[in-house]
Amino acid sequence: MRTILAAKPSITQREIDYVTDAVTTGWGAQCYDYLNRFSECLREYFDVPHVWPTSSCHGALHIGLKALGVGPGDEVIVPDLTWTGSVFPISWLGATPVFVDALESSWCISPASIIAAITPRTRAIVIVHLYGNLCDMDAIMEIGRAHGIPVIEDAAEAVGSEYHGRKAGSIGDMGVFSMHGTKTLTSGEGGALLCNRDDLVESIATIENQGRKPGKHIIFWVDEIGLKYKLSNIQAALGLGQFERAGELVGAKRKIFDWYQTLLADWDDIALNPQPEGCLNSYWQPTIMFGESWGMTEVRRNALVTAVTSVGVGIRPLFYPVSKLPMYEPAPQNHVTYALHGRGINLPNYFDMTQDDVAYVLATVRERLGPTE
Ligand SMILES: Cc1ncc(COP(=O)(O)O)c(C=O)c1O
Repeated sequence: MRTILAAKPSITQREIDYVTDAVTTGWGAQCYDYLNRFSECLREYFDVPHVWPTSSCHGALHIGLKALGVGPGDEVIVPDLTWTGSVFPISWLGATPVFVDALESSWCISPASIIAAITPRTRAIVIVHLYGNLCDMDAIMEIGRAHGIPVIEDAAEAVGSEYHGRKAGSIGDMGVFSMHGTKTLTSGEGGALLCNRDDLVESIATIENQGRKPGKHIIFWVDEIGLKYKLSNIQAALGLGQFERAGELVGAKRKIFDWYQTLLADWDDIALNPQPEGCLNSYWQPTIMFGESWGMTEVRRNALVTAVTSVGVGIRPLFYPVSKLPMYEPAPQNHVTYALHGRGINLPNYFDMTQDDVAYVLATVRERLGPTE
């Protein structure tokens, strides 16, 4: 059976050499060498003043929200259409996630829905650049400024995407991203917290360092309850190698998306990931959104995913609205999100894919789509 995975990293001799060096020499006095190089590389790549590599995007968001003082009684606005990684840190802090709707055009959070959801208890806005697509950052940052509410960009899926020349993740008060093994750039597991605000640095640095305030050198003294989401030096070596290849890795994603787009040009009534004027989409996951005429339902879409994955082609369904999951209250008023979720599929996109692989994926999907209703 021909197998096409949903995602797969590209690892070259550069990454192998860095990891081998880190695991061989990166101990004792050298134990932070790759971490320091990786942090510097991220500062440059994202053009932000402050960076903390973390063991996951979830961890980065947990630290960032905690540094903003988010806790019980607070509300945090978050898109309903996202992975739970954008939401669980809010819940772990005892705050309430307030799920808001998506835009039909970008599948990302709707600025108007953010405004409608703001209350005196709103402590932060988490926005998500879904599948590499970009949120309307001008509108969102203006809402944040007007209401005095910090914005955290969840760029877990959008490393390499750009909004008017600025990297996704580098625009908000803070940004977070993921280096999970399925992502365009990976360190196995990993991520980082990016921050543009000097006034948050001491708080973040303290929480991130298990509650030890920066600059204090009293061994084993801890000032407050902190968190531990550090990236290892070995993973930082892998991450460094990947970010040094960021242009090549993101370029491959874009090339593969172009192949899909060309071959899908004669499929009627579908939408693919948009790339608005002035934006660059890194297309983490090329996504087909089937229009009304396909009569696509959640049941039919799930059957399609099962049929296609069972013959070795790794397509995936769109995320569930997080509010539909059993730990939260349903929010069917998020009409766009609830409607989008059942009619979208994500297509494989990884560095080594060939044009023939792309054609095979689409032929496999097409064959199993069956007649429209
Ligand atoms: C939008 C979004 N946010 C957060 C996360 C969490 O990332 P991690 O697995 O690195 O914690 C993911 C993971 O895929 C994600 O897609």
